Amino acid sequence: MPTKRTLIVVGYGNMAKAILTQNTYIFTHYEVFISGRHSEKIDAFIQECGLEQKAKVLEIHNREIPIENSDVLLCVKPKGLESFVFVGRANCVYSVLAGISITEMSLRIQASTYIRLMPNIAAYVKKSATAVYIEPRDSKNSVDLESIKALVDSFGKAVIVDNESLINASIATSGSSIAFLALIAESLIDAGIYEGLTYPQSVALVKQTFEGFADILQDKDPNALKYAISSPGGTTIAGLAILEQEGVKGAMMKAAHQAVQRALELGKSPK
Ligand SMILES: NC(=O)c1ccc[n+]([C@@H]2O[C@H](COP(=O)([O-])OP(=O)(O)OC[C@H]3O[C@@H](n4cnc5c(N)ncnc54)[C@H](OP(=O)(O)O)[C@@H]3O)[C@@H](O)[C@H]2O)c1
Repeated sequence: MPTKRTLIVVGYGNMAKAILTQNTYIFTHYEVFISGRHSEKIDAFIQECGLEQKAKVLEIHNREIPIENSDVLLCVKPKGLESFVFVGRANCVYSVLAGISITEMSLRIQASTYIRLMPNIAAYVKKSATAVYIEPRDSKNSVDLESIKALVDSFGKAVIVDNESLINASIATSGSSIAFLALIAESLIDAGIYEGLTYPQSVALVKQTFEGFADILQDKDPNALKYAISSPGGTTIAGLAILEQEGVKGAMMKAAHQAVQRALELGKSPK
């Protein structure tokens, strides 16, 4: 068994929890330390995530986190980066911080490779759709692309992008879109109740529809799927005609665009 690398996770909120809970890959390949402003909160986090035998608390003094020869996973709020002094140079810094560029990050934390991630909350079930941008800063050592991808794939699927700006763009497709889909699910549940189904019946039918849809989407384009279930003059096309008249597709694109713009604004606002 090769020696484990060290992974320092900074932050113990929802995203850290989603990534680490039941993550076999990370705990097989890394010795994991959790760090952050409040060590008593880290203990609670370790218990909540069931990591008592797997992760250790990294106590910090004078706001200093030693990172030499370690990998670091930043999971704090964007302004949280300023709360710490990172001592030494990390191998890889993985950051989920929305709106914090690698240029900004590199002013506070030194690393051979910077990796920006835009995961989504499906990391909890190891199904996050995660855009990944990798920027090497060390010309001597080549980037270990395989292990970067393996780490990100450990909580879902990594989609590598070749331009940092596309990390924000992925807020449209995946970062925020689960909430948009939740709104659609809620509308369909309401519609079922409106038509006479009970709440539990409507919820069960919508959940199963989403599950079936997700599976079919793996092999079929949405467009092909739409036509496959729209018979001429039939029920589905009658409903689709209303959605087109009401501009649902345009509204969804506008909403996604607004979410990306908001990330850009937050990135520019004083931290
Ligand atoms: N949730 C998502 O779906 C999602 C998706 C993509 C990216 N992200 C990114 O993930 C990061 C964490 O989000 P989250 O959902 O996990 O938030 P969260 O549950 O609110 O957790 C925030 C974490 O940041 C720490 N923190 C907050 N303010 C801080 C400060 N000023 N200095 C140091 N630490 C501070 C908190 O600890 P204390 O306040 O106790 O110190 C906590 O550990 C954010 O940067 C966000 O942009 C989240």
